[in-house]
Amino acid sequence: MSVGIDEISFYTSNYYLDLKTLAEVQGTDPEKYYTGIGQEKMGMAAPDEDIVTMASSAALPLIERVGPEAVSTLLFATETGIDQSKAAGIYVHRLLGLSSNCRVVELKQACYSATAALQMACALVARKPDCKVLVIASDIARYDLDTPGEATQGCGAVAMLIASNPRLVSIDPEVGNHTEDVMDFWRPNYRSTALVDGKYSTKIYLKALKKAWDNFRDVSDLAFGDFSRFCYHLPFSRMAQKAHQQLVRHNKVGLSADEQEAQISDTLLYNRIIGNSYTASMYIGLTSLLENTEEDLSGKRIGFFSYGSGCVGEFFSGTVVAGYREALHTEYHQALLAARREIEHDEYLQLYRNQVPADGGEHRFAEGTTGRFRLAGIAHHKREYVIC
Ligand code: HMG
Repeated sequence: MSVGIDEISFYTSNYYLDLKTLAEVQGTDPEKYYTGIGQEKMGMAAPDEDIVTMASSAALPLIERVGPEAVSTLLFATETGIDQSKAAGIYVHRLLGLSSNCRVVELKQACYSATAALQMACALVARKPDCKVLVIASDIARYDLDTPGEATQGCGAVAMLIASNPRLVSIDPEVGNHTEDVMDFWRPNYRSTALVDGKYSTKIYLKALKKAWDNFRDVSDLAFGDFSRFCYHLPFSRMAQKAHQQLVRHNKVGLSADEQEAQISDTLLYNRIIGNSYTASMYIGLTSLLENTEEDLSGKRIGFFSYGSGCVGEFFSGTVVAGYREALHTEYHQALLAARREIEHDEYLQLYRNQVPADGGEHRFAEGTTGRFRLAGIAHHKREYVIC
């Protein structure tokens, strides 16, 4: 019996800022963003959108197919937590009409926690093969204005149904990990934007890749040559290109630059125009790979490197299942991305400055999202969600 990803769907806001616009305002060469970090656009959340509404929208196509009673556990990964106690997934549980017998929990370790959720979901399914676990990763990446991180913001959510005999990707049990207490990127409870030591964070990412890969090689029989494609955590596209170059060098593999690029290029397409979605980003990258690769990937092995600052890195592997294209939501995702509206810099600043009031009063939020779920307001410190 194999265990893995049976279905995958993502959601991102209907607003984006073109990084050319940001570059113009900053007096920066736009090629620094387009080529230097490999990003074109960044998604900006609407005033009535948060991790709960994005997560619900991401999961809706899966639940519409499988039915709300089918999910036995919902694991919600995020680093944009909205409450220190209550799991954001419980709001999602209600909005999607999941069974009261479905357990819900929230997981955190920067961008890595979706991978922890995936592995835990696989373990639950291996123990009870007829159950289905819903893994959702949802985040809004925010950095201070006029900092190097500003151009690497974004937002998005991904939902994955984990099941036995999956239709998309079977996940292998062997994993390589690297954990180390470092301060490369963090967000104390009293801040709404992340603090980051940018250059250091890229070095630590690469170190964690090397260490996690070495650990993976200790526990798995698979070698570099067994992999057809690689999905990396995607804070920005160039990071994956640098990571892959390093892995190729580390393994002393004789691949041309074009051959190396071909192993990752289709994973970058969606993230290039969405931006960093933290926990969701590597899995939006996987969706991009499956939906945009012309070659039939059936039976091909994919290597995954998941990274969460602070830090935990994990290298793991999976195999694409024959007939996977039948289970994709390609048209839905491409229509979602095509329907987004470009915003000017002043509207970007308005959205950026938009914060959920913390005064305990009653507030209604302007309508902005075109998604099925809205954060309509807040009263007495309670968020009010509605289904449109
Ligand atoms: P920076 O310091 O402004 O950029 O910010 P730079 O000066 O290093 O330039 C970036 C690249 O653009 C360089 O290329 C330049 O040469 C090139 P490289 O040397 O890297 O190959 N460049 C140009 N190229 C073409 N035309 C031009 C031009 N000008 C320059 N005119 C930095 C870069 C990544 C530090 C910044 O964006 C940042 O702080 N980002 C946030 C942190 C981050 O994303 N770190 C990634 C690793 S940590 C991670 O992935 C975890 C994370 O997702 C969080 C989590 O786990 O929760 C962040």
